[in-house]
Amino acid sequence: MSMSQSYTALRPEFKEALKEAAKNFQTPFYAYDLQTVLERIDRLQKAFPGGEIFYAMKANPRLGILRRLLQWGLFVEAVSLGEVYRAYKAGFQRNEVLLNGPVKTPAMLEELDRIGIPILGLDSLTDLRRVIRMLPRARAILRVNPDLPIATHEHLATGRGESKFGILPEEVEQALELARRSRLEVLGLHVHLGSALEHLEDYQAGYAVMDRLYRTHGPFQVINLGGGFGLGLDLGELGAQAMALAHQHKVELWLEPGRYLVAEAGVLVTRTWGVKRTRRNYLLIDAGMSQLIRPMLYGATHPVEPLYKNPVMETYDLAGPACESGDVLARDVTLPEPKEGDLLAILQAGAYASSMSSNYLDTPRPAELLWTDQGWELIRRQQRWEALLEDEQ
Ligand SMILES: Cc1ncc(COP(=O)(O)O)c(C=O)c1O
Repeated sequence: MSMSQSYTALRPEFKEALKEAAKNFQTPFYAYDLQTVLERIDRLQKAFPGGEIFYAMKANPRLGILRRLLQWGLFVEAVSLGEVYRAYKAGFQRNEVLLNGPVKTPAMLEELDRIGIPILGLDSLTDLRRVIRMLPRARAILRVNPDLPIATHEHLATGRGESKFGILPEEVEQALELARRSRLEVLGLHVHLGSALEHLEDYQAGYAVMDRLYRTHGPFQVINLGGGFGLGLDLGELGAQAMALAHQHKVELWLEPGRYLVAEAGVLVTRTWGVKRTRRNYLLIDAGMSQLIRPMLYGATHPVEPLYKNPVMETYDLAGPACESGDVLARDVTLPEPKEGDLLAILQAGAYASSMSSNYLDTPRPAELLWTDQGWELIRRQQRWEALLEDEQ
């Protein structure tokens, strides 16, 4: 419906089910199609046969989703203590959780010692020294900053030399030497080039850096090639190259996809509440930056599908309810002219939508629903108004 971008349309059964759900749940709400998640896992496993998938739970950390991924044999990647608590609560074991992240405070390491130390992704020499001191028997991987001109939004290009992530290639020797003098077990090196990557060349350049490092500093047990797969990326060719790299260095291949597995499975359902013309043509909707920050944060575009019909078409910007000029979820969307209360599905909202949502303007977090083909499961109820106040005096 919207823009020139191509996208995968919703499954008709799911689309019908959304209309039913809207009879029982207040908009806006998030809804996820479990079959689409399964299908994306299948695609990934076919492209990277034998690769170990650590799902990046920051994309969507709902327990109702994590528990399914656990049943299907996936592991998880976490980046905060909160995510580790959540992963353990979902049932993952410590060797099934990989904790990355650039800052691990002493308090956090103490707590990990108490609740069970996951595999640690170490991000700097400081991080490494602190872990050697406080959790000397941990198992770890070292994150490398490949120092490459990655093509994606600046906030998503973690593999650029100027980003805050990883150890530069020239520091790897020193880091490994530090680790060798300790009891820490370094399983291998890790690279995560960025997010929403659409160009194979970025990965090829990243893999070439890893190849050089493995030749120079190997042998290792594992190679972690991160996540970041854009929704339009050709996984077939990429998978073959990743597998070849892993075979060549006789290591296990680890991956950390987030968006790819869940983005297209999810929608944000919102109702339209009238049209307003300034120098632009706005359709007023009841969802905005509190539920979907990506357009504002990254200039991300989300396709939009109407859940109503009208032969008369019109082009709108979708204006959210916040008092912020940036609170516009999509621009220049051509839609059938809506009546008040008609429903829109904002697509590709399964990743980094709910997980990045906020209570800005005392907006309660919406309900989240999972469609299993047997019916709807409420995996998170709408936040209660009282919950917004309960931590205050
Ligand atoms: C270290 C790491 N791994 C994996 C991911 C997942 O990225 P994506 O959802 O783009 O696959 C991220 C995203 O920020 C990350 O920082």
